[in-house]
Amino acid sequence: MFQSLRLPPRGIDIAQGKGKYLMQHRGCSILKGADDMVIFHELFWRLRPATVIELGTFTGGSAVWMADMLRLMEVDSTIYSMDIELSNLEERVKEIKPSNVHFFEGNSYEIEKTFTSEMLQSLPHPWLVIEDAHTNINGIMNHFGSYMKTGDYFIIKDVHPNLPRDIGKDGSIYGDDFETIGPSAIIEMKKFLSQHANEYAVDSFYTDFFGYNGTWNMHGYIRKM
Ligand SMILES: C[S@@+](CC[C@H](N)C(=O)[O-])C[C@H]1O[C@@H](n2cnc3c(N)ncnc32)[C@H](O)[C@@H]1O
Repeated sequence: MFQSLRLPPRGIDIAQGKGKYLMQHRGCSILKGADDMVIFHELFWRLRPATVIELGTFTGGSAVWMADMLRLMEVDSTIYSMDIELSNLEERVKEIKPSNVHFFEGNSYEIEKTFTSEMLQSLPHPWLVIEDAHTNINGIMNHFGSYMKTGDYFIIKDVHPNLPRDIGKDGSIYGDDFETIGPSAIIEMKKFLSQHANEYAVDSFYTDFFGYNGTWNMHGYIRKM
């Protein structure tokens, strides 16, 4: 069920946005808040995804972290991390690159060209599909949703309206413009969930792990029913 869009009573604060852009794992940058890294960790353990699809690679640190966490949990998993351009892939990520991580270029607006029907039918479940390119969210959910099975998950990232727009490489937050990704992501998620009523549920175990929607990914932990 899609809950109301009221902001969390305490939840995430703008000041936490800085830390979100300073997170590292083994010297690789990751664009995730500490709270969401804990929530991902819980989801990894409970779901034990055989396939992880990350849309939006950026530095690649996130994929390395996910691979490391899943290996520690003895989950046999393959990570497919796609970006429209891989020029931001960090040298440290290239040094470490676990063998079960595949980085490749592709466009979220033409997702069916990269994640073809044939490929998706061959990928083992459970799936964890992470939308972090902030583009074509409804189209992405429809495309992967067509091949999802009961128990698979979407994570739709950075839905929170207080996500800062301009972040420096050092984590500095510039300007007062916070409303960029969140509102359009909410509209697209809501559209998908209303088009697929009773097929998906926002999993409040994860969204409310740190209090009501205490996550940058408000309403964004979604289970295929
Ligand atoms: C927020 S970053 C991803 C952060 C990363 N997942 C992490 O947790 O560290 C968003 C990425 O999406 C990519 N992107 C933007 N538009 C895209 C598109 N149309 N298709 C694929 N990737 C795109 C950008 O190049 C950027 O690297």
